Amino acid sequence: MKKLYLISLGPGDPELITLKALKAFQKSEAICIPTKSKEKSFEKSTAYKIVKEILKEFDLQKTLYPIYVPMKFNPKDWEREAQEILECFEKHDTVSFVTLGDAAIYSTVYYILDFIKEKNPSIYENSEVIPGITSFSLASAKIKKPLCLGDSSLEIAPFYGTSKKTKVYMRGERGACTSHIKENGKIYTFERLTSKDEKIYPKKVDSIKHYMTLLIDFIF
Ligand SMILES: C[S@@+](CC[C@H](N)C(=O)[O-])C[C@H]1O[C@@H](n2cnc3c(N)ncnc32)[C@H](O)[C@@H]1O
Repeated sequence: MKKLYLISLGPGDPELITLKALKAFQKSEAICIPTKSKEKSFEKSTAYKIVKEILKEFDLQKTLYPIYVPMKFNPKDWEREAQEILECFEKHDTVSFVTLGDAAIYSTVYYILDFIKEKNPSIYENSEVIPGITSFSLASAKIKKPLCLGDSSLEIAPFYGTSKKTKVYMRGERGACTSHIKENGKIYTFERLTSKDEKIYPKKVDSIKHYMTLLIDFIF
């Protein structure tokens, strides 16, 4: 069965990849690496520098494919990038595409995945996104300052600003009612992630059953 990994690389230090990312590299036959170079050189690719270090440290031999990912957003590029990744499956069964930081934060991963879903639903179904450490988690750790504590919240926005917001709700007390939470996009409830009792509901639960619960109001 063909398998695609979308691997988050963390903010730049190869030591900040996850164990899961490392295992996905070990399982991958080929790794697709974004580069800003039209000529598909790895010279301008930060992602390549991280991957190169990891492959060297863990003595892994992989086929590397440069994928030209320009700075400007253009659906035609995402479609081409998806196509180039899919073409790797003509030669390999397990392929990775890497992204900086975490895949959920302003990454091309989900644009590309939309096209992969359209062009090859079975590879989409068998794909796995591996989360990673964000640039702002590292920034906070560097200066030992928290991003949110107590009743404060965290906002992540592009420099030019926006009114569109994905909202994450956390730290609900057991038994707390969720009726005050207005749904703007589509709320999912995540309970006890990674435990044997993990539950993911495609809705807002009426009340919080466990402290380890997240509600995310996705605008996408
Ligand atoms: C396209 S976004 C990708 C964000 C990434 N997926 C993450 O989880 O942090 C790129 C922006 O992230 C920030 N960024 C990413 N890596 C960084 C680093 N090593 N140092 C400072 N800022 C960084 C910068 O604001 C940059 O413009």
